[in-house]
Amino acid sequence: MAVFVVLLGPPGAGKGTQALRLAQSLNVPHISSGALFREHLKNQTELGVKANAYIEQGQLVPDDVTIGMIRERLSRPDCAPGAILDGFPRTPPQAEALDAILKDLGSSLRAVIHIKVAEEVLARRVCGRRTCREAGHIFHVEFNPPKVPGVCDYDGSELYQRRDDMRETVLERVEVYQRQTTPLIEHFRKRNLLREVNGVYSIDDVTAAMIDVLKSPGETE
Ligand code: AP5
Ligand code: MG
Repeated sequence: MAVFVVLLGPPGAGKGTQALRLAQSLNVPHISSGALFREHLKNQTELGVKANAYIEQGQLVPDDVTIGMIRERLSRPDCAPGAILDGFPRTPPQAEALDAILKDLGSSLRAVIHIKVAEEVLARRVCGRRTCREAGHIFHVEFNPPKVPGVCDYDGSELYQRRDDMRETVLERVEVYQRQTTPLIEHFRKRNLLREVNGVYSIDDVTAAMIDVLKSPGETE
């Protein structure tokens, strides 16, 4: 049975950092809606240009655009064994669409891991983040610095600061998360899919906690 796991959490919670590690550990692709939008923008596709107008304002990209992009990605053969979904779903219609997409693939959601991090920590994490141009590898100037400043450890490409990682945009993104995405926490709790981990600990400790909660379905923390 394929393993589809969703990572839920505010901007800076560590979804991208942890999704990569979990994907390697479970040997499934890491699918980040934000990274897919950034890839589209890099290639100047129509979708990328349209999405960027929302991303730069810290707003969510409309559901129909986002759902279409994720449906296409999940239907590719590399997702047959499952996937770690980072940043999707973020609204109730997206959650509904994910159920339908997975049903069409003859599968269903295994778990939703909510990475809990207090708001005070988020801006510091996001503002210090550096992202690699080539593949989106994630670093932090203070908490997870690259060996050579400004250069990705994995592929040697340049590290840059995301345009939506400016302080005012980050605050807006956190607000949007509270308003539009947190209702999903209850939604998944009711379906007994929700698992929670405390995201304030070290990157390694959070990974260990996530692997743990996936082994013990039904339990939280
Ligand atoms: P997206 O790219 O998904 O951004 P986000 O949800 O705001 O989350 P971030 O990527 O900022 O944080 P993260 O949780 O991945 O943290 P990370 O691991 O990098 O989305 C961007 C935009 O695209 C959205 O605003 C929206 O416009 C649009 N979009 C995307 N999906 C959408 C959807 N489904 N619907 C509509 N619109 C959508 O970690 C952050 C930093 O902290 C890093 O520097 C990292 O090194 C560091 N760090 C991580 N863990 C730790 C730790 N345990 N201790 C210390 N430092 C840590
Ligand atoms: Mg991310």
